[in-house]
Amino acid sequence: MLSNNISLDVDYVKAQFPAFSDPKSSKWSFFENAGGSYVPTNVIEHLNHFMTSTKVQPYAEFDTSAIAGDNMDQATKLFAEMINAKTDEIIIGGSTTMNMYVLSNAMSSLLKPGDEVIVTNQDHEANVGAWRRLAKHGMIIKEWQINPETAELNINDLKVLLSEKTRIVAVTHCSNIVGSINDLKSIAKLVHEYDAYIVGDGVSYAPHGFPDVKDLDVDFYAFSLYKTFGPHLGLLYGKKEILRKLPNQNHEFLEGDVPYTLNPGGPNHEELSCLIGVYEYFNNLYLHHFPGQDASTRGKIEAVNELIAKHEMEIANPLLDYINTRDDINLIGKNKISNKDRAPTIAFTMNNKSSNELSSDLVQQGIATRNDNFYAWRCLKALGIDTDDGVVRTSMVHYNTHEDVKKLIEALKDIRG
Ligand SMILES: Cc1ncc(COP(=O)(O)O)c(C=O)c1O
Repeated sequence: MLSNNISLDVDYVKAQFPAFSDPKSSKWSFFENAGGSYVPTNVIEHLNHFMTSTKVQPYAEFDTSAIAGDNMDQATKLFAEMINAKTDEIIIGGSTTMNMYVLSNAMSSLLKPGDEVIVTNQDHEANVGAWRRLAKHGMIIKEWQINPETAELNINDLKVLLSEKTRIVAVTHCSNIVGSINDLKSIAKLVHEYDAYIVGDGVSYAPHGFPDVKDLDVDFYAFSLYKTFGPHLGLLYGKKEILRKLPNQNHEFLEGDVPYTLNPGGPNHEELSCLIGVYEYFNNLYLHHFPGQDASTRGKIEAVNELIAKHEMEIANPLLDYINTRDDINLIGKNKISNKDRAPTIAFTMNNKSSNELSSDLVQQGIATRNDNFYAWRCLKALGIDTDDGVVRTSMVHYNTHEDVKKLIEALKDIRG
């Protein structure tokens, strides 16, 4: 492994994000990353360039328009390479919720009444509600439920639900509350034994390492680019051979123009174009840590993923260790990260204190966090947690530091349930 002995240079990382030198944002220890991440300079520069120099309808012959179109195409191509997909397997829509909604509309034409669709109660509603709507076409919805003690999904419970009638299984790669990484590759293999489609929600997974969608062998995979250091967009990957079977969701004369047919209204031009900046940021991270070592785009992403996973584990485990010492804090999910089995998305409640009060106490001490159900309300319901008050979620990415964690632990020490 390329990166075993190298640690992430967090000072270098932070220098790439203007938020850390902005007086308004830099006063916070930022623990709201699962809501949306900061963006690096490269992204801001591309956005600025698009708006300044090429803010015209793309793909016409004159140069500013042609450059706009080229940049949009380049952004899609680079993101495809980053996740090991083909360019025409990528849809850049408004959000993951929107992408899932359009996908489920399109998928309904491949299903017939009586076909079965499996959703979980661990997922964010984006990968539940869109599929549950298929009930109105006569499809049977089944729920793969978490173990309420561990908040985790057990693949043996899925085995019981699968049948020759199963057509779709929608499951998260990583819960935005529980943080556990679900073994999507094994789940996909199992689902394919039943000739069903698997739709993975990677929104809480991708900020911690862009996945290899071909290796996972998922049929569809979605994540939100505004949580992976980019602008407010959602990326949907779909296997080309399945995308081709899906009916047009766009203007009728665009028939056959896959995957544009799955993106009614088209992408947001300036935001799509500035995704080049996300690629450049990751490329620069690679070059900074592995100078002179050439690699493919995907190879670079894999090397950087290793650095990020190691750093995130090193900063998150002390927080998990501290929470474990507190009888009045109820942690959701695994109490340690090992072998990349958990994201540093750490949610909890406190005895005798509402999550709303707890979150306010933390905010007063310079911790940027919040309480909510984070639209994983079925998960909270299954755990017996009030879905209005929700949980406090402290979520980190690779620009978080040991100092952030120390500050959060010190803040928690002052708050008792
Ligand atoms: C796990 C998960 N899935 C889906 C979504 C929905 O993403 P979007 O806001 O892009 O619709 C979120 C948003 O927070 C999420 O955390």
